Amino acid sequence: MAEAACTAGDRLLLKPTRDKRRDHRAQPDRRASTVPRGKRPDEPSAVTRVAEPPVKARELRRREGILPAERLPLILEVAPNEDYALIDSGNGEKLEQYGPYRIVRPEGQAIWQRALPLWEWNSVDAVFTGDTDEEGLGRWRFPRTPLGETWPMKHDGIDYLGRFTSFRHVGVFPEQASHWDHMAGLIERAGRPVKVLNLFGYTGLASLVAARSGAEVTHVDASKKAIGWARENQEMAGLGSKPIRWICEDAMKFAERQERRGNGYDIILFDPPAYGRGPKGEVWQLFEDLPALADICRAILTPKPLAVVLTAYSIRSSFFAIHALMRDTFAGMGGTVESGELIIREKSAGRALSTSLFARWVA
Ligand SMILES: C[S@@+](CC[C@H](N)C(=O)[O-])C[C@H]1O[C@@H](n2cnc3c(N)ncnc32)[C@H](O)[C@@H]1O
Repeated sequence: MAEAACTAGDRLLLKPTRDKRRDHRAQPDRRASTVPRGKRPDEPSAVTRVAEPPVKARELRRREGILPAERLPLILEVAPNEDYALIDSGNGEKLEQYGPYRIVRPEGQAIWQRALPLWEWNSVDAVFTGDTDEEGLGRWRFPRTPLGETWPMKHDGIDYLGRFTSFRHVGVFPEQASHWDHMAGLIERAGRPVKVLNLFGYTGLASLVAARSGAEVTHVDASKKAIGWARENQEMAGLGSKPIRWICEDAMKFAERQERRGNGYDIILFDPPAYGRGPKGEVWQLFEDLPALADICRAILTPKPLAVVLTAYSIRSSFFAIHALMRDTFAGMGGTVESGELIIREKSAGRALSTSLFARWVA
């Protein structure tokens, strides 16, 4: 199979299929699937069901060996900076600065009162309105002047495009910067060629950070549109000559093939949604599929691996659960599993907004 190919026909071919490993449920858990962050940006509303040959279920067994050391809870914080800031939050919304624009979006966790006066909240460039349900579609309103779909942004000197998307996202998850910095340090200190695999890579910021630090990167996402945005970001960042393979494919299928072929990576990042679909309709259910994917990630590490970083969000779980999974998965490998939450610190009153859980194995 041509790995880099994501043909124009992909949209038309979209067909949800269920293979053995994901076939225990007739319907996806809609609570779990209420995660716009994981929704494929080009997911069609109507799809045809076409049978696909089932993939053999992976037999999981508890790994032998001493468990990695552990460090938890670890709270990784993104503070307000010149590229991005959480300016204020409260009353079910958050006010953020993305480069030149001030943006207001719904934020279910902000159950406190706003710290800044109303006029600050009203003097903004874009407001996401619509369904307050996480899953709901909405639309952007531009109170000052109509804005285009994209705008120039920077992360730590890397240029890319911010983007008003229909699921309230803006083409970047700033809280991930804590992982990007950590990864960049590992790559730069390795003193040897490093191969990075970025599964569920979205618009590619992590891939760009890794490539800038000198890694050879493989970026996988199920959405043809997201891959297009990521490639645009690569050009925008002036990193066009860096070795990044952009692959539009189901993350699990790609990882399984790497294992069959004996391909290895030194660092693996995976940031899966609670529920998602591959380009051929393959169903991803976090609670069912994560153990197998974590196990495959271990299997496709090089002999001298550096780290495997898992982030999870919008799930009814605790970081203790993914911590235990990662420790068991990396039994016998040494190193440390560090787990906790990614948070963004608010500028106005210093409150912390938790965005995701993470567990990372560091060699
Ligand atoms: C939350 S985003 C990841 C964000 C990314 N880590 C970042 O920091 O920019 C989740 C991504 O998973 C992709 N996705 C959903 N289901 C998938 C699947 N089965 N295989 C591969 N990618 C999938 C979506 O297209 C989306 O881009």
